[in-house]
Amino acid sequence: MKVLGISAGRHNGNTDIAVKEALLAAQEQGAEVIFINLFDYNILPCTGCESCTMMMGDVAMGKRDDYPGCVLKNKDDMDKIMDVFQTCNGLIVGCPTYDLLPSSLYLKFAQRFLAYELAFRLKIGAVKENPNMVAGLISVGGSCHDWQGFSLEALGATMFTNSVRVVDQYMVTRVGRPGNIVIRPDHLERVHKMGENIVKAIKTPVEERTWLGDPDMGLCPNCHGGLVFRGDVHWDGIRFPYECAVCGAGLELKDGKFVLAENGLCRDRNVDEARGYHLDEIVATRIDFMKRMGEEPEVKETINKYKEIKFPAI
Ligand SMILES: Cc1cc2nc3c(=O)[nH]c(=O)nc-3n(C[C@H](O)[C@H](O)[C@H](O)COP(=O)(O)O)c2cc1C
Repeated sequence: MKVLGISAGRHNGNTDIAVKEALLAAQEQGAEVIFINLFDYNILPCTGCESCTMMMGDVAMGKRDDYPGCVLKNKDDMDKIMDVFQTCNGLIVGCPTYDLLPSSLYLKFAQRFLAYELAFRLKIGAVKENPNMVAGLISVGGSCHDWQGFSLEALGATMFTNSVRVVDQYMVTRVGRPGNIVIRPDHLERVHKMGENIVKAIKTPVEERTWLGDPDMGLCPNCHGGLVFRGDVHWDGIRFPYECAVCGAGLELKDGKFVLAENGLCRDRNVDEARGYHLDEIVATRIDFMKRMGEEPEVKETINKYKEIKFPAI
């Protein structure tokens, strides 16, 4: 039972303390624990080259034998972290809120996950077995929910690429200067509970795992996220009255509460099958573009027109 704590906060700041408190609880429950602070690693931003998905696709289609990994593999510490990350059973992810969102350091880290897609790494044997990871998410901010509006939701959105099931989340509010959290025993007690919840979830058979956080948290009955929007038409025509911005569940309003719409879990990003269907959308978009580029010379001409336009930069 291995639990990895990740902090994207200042060294010895509020996030470090919150994550360490959760890890202490996990350790008390018998877990082996590891703690990293992302400031200690060289993590380059994703270049957006799409080599990972192109190469993974080629392996899947038998066009190449192996997947060499991210093009930045030997240029920074990401591989070193992910090798441990993907062998853990549980995660405690803590991140300070900057401008309502998780800090850019964390997002830079998490947006490199695509090159380490668990389902694919399993398929090609780079990871031996699915650790069926569970996670607890902690956002840490100087203010209340009103100034942390996207924090937990955006952290949640970084979990599905590695098929990590979020079983608990907590927003640490009104802690500003480093160490401020120690005068808030309510916060420390709650993140301690999160550490216990993570071990409880690890010990529960995968199919029986459930949400262990506050039952009334959020609006989505599926993931407990708090961001719901009025549904739009999807690429294949499907439409729900409302959708959860985090997990993608289709929702409807009943007696003032959001409940699952009919077939509402068919786009649940946490389900590998639903995520696989999203890959169909990506491929369909790519094929359509390549086809039109081949058939319609004006497409390439227009792209070149924009390439040639030069404005003064900074
Ligand atoms: C650039 C910046 C933006 C911030 N924006 C917010 C914010 O929008 N909402 C909030 O609640 N706190 C905000 N804060 C406060 C931090 O989240 C807070 O100080 C937190 O305790 C930092 O965590 P740490 O001690 O682990 O580094 C911001 C801090 C910085 C440096």
